[in-house]
Amino acid sequence: MKAIILAGGAGSRLYPLTLVASKQLQAVYDKPMIYYPLTVLIASGIREFCLISTPADIPRYKTLLGDGAQWGISIEYREQAKPEGIAQAFLIADSFIGRDPVTLMLGDNIFFGGDAFPRAMEDFKGGATIFAYHVNDPERYGVVEFDASGKALSIEEKPKQPRSNYAVPGVYIYDNEVVGLAKNLKPSARGELEITDINRIYLDRGTLQVKRLPRGFAWLDAGTSTSLQEASAYIAAVENRQGLKIGCPEEAALVRGFLSPSQFEALITRMPNCEYRDYLNAVLEEAR
Ligand code: G1P
Repeated sequence: MKAIILAGGAGSRLYPLTLVASKQLQAVYDKPMIYYPLTVLIASGIREFCLISTPADIPRYKTLLGDGAQWGISIEYREQAKPEGIAQAFLIADSFIGRDPVTLMLGDNIFFGGDAFPRAMEDFKGGATIFAYHVNDPERYGVVEFDASGKALSIEEKPKQPRSNYAVPGVYIYDNEVVGLAKNLKPSARGELEITDINRIYLDRGTLQVKRLPRGFAWLDAGTSTSLQEASAYIAAVENRQGLKIGCPEEAALVRGFLSPSQFEALITRMPNCEYRDYLNAVLEEAR
């Protein structure tokens, strides 16, 4: 399984923060936003990544993440010149995907709790697997409707009258057919290649699995100044209570065995004195 992280877009709702760096580079409490989805994927066992962003932002992501070798992973970069839809990611990353299945994750989606994603990736046999999460404002998202037995009946993109409160978060697992499907997709009325249209094709074929994320699981939005602040406060509250960080790629790489304890230690010695370094030292001590 490979993974694409889509971190494009103008981030206009966060203006003027986004004048100098894209939305997914903004701080969510003590780390850049992109660390959170990246860590979820590393913790799921993925080692091969493609990061898609704007031509202006790619150099900034390279400064932050490099080629991934420091975490025992690989990161390739591809440009999305114009934001023409989430499903465009499969066209841009065609050569990266090759013949493999792929997970697409949106760089501004923050998740916390449980093992739904690694389990879904381990269990993945083909078709597509997406998730559903109960929200207060489904009209802002892709929305899934279920029948009484829990089977998905329909998916709509930002419906004015949502048929349920179940929104589709930005994590999508596909077999290799997704590339061909994206190539044949027509832009929607808003001129974008819609991920919801891809999901609808799998639904119509009967090969879409929709897994409901449980109560207590957190899916946070960080797309407006208010929700960014709320996400930071949530992360801070949980981290400070537990003394454990959320969204720490080094720790996930250690736990997954992508880094040996000695490689992890070498990584720490290159960091300046800071809380983050102190935390990683504590992680290493506990692991030994
Ligand atoms: C996109 C998708 C939508 C999904 C959401 C998750 O919306 O189009 O189906 O529910 O991401 O974050 P957008 O971020 O473009 O508003």
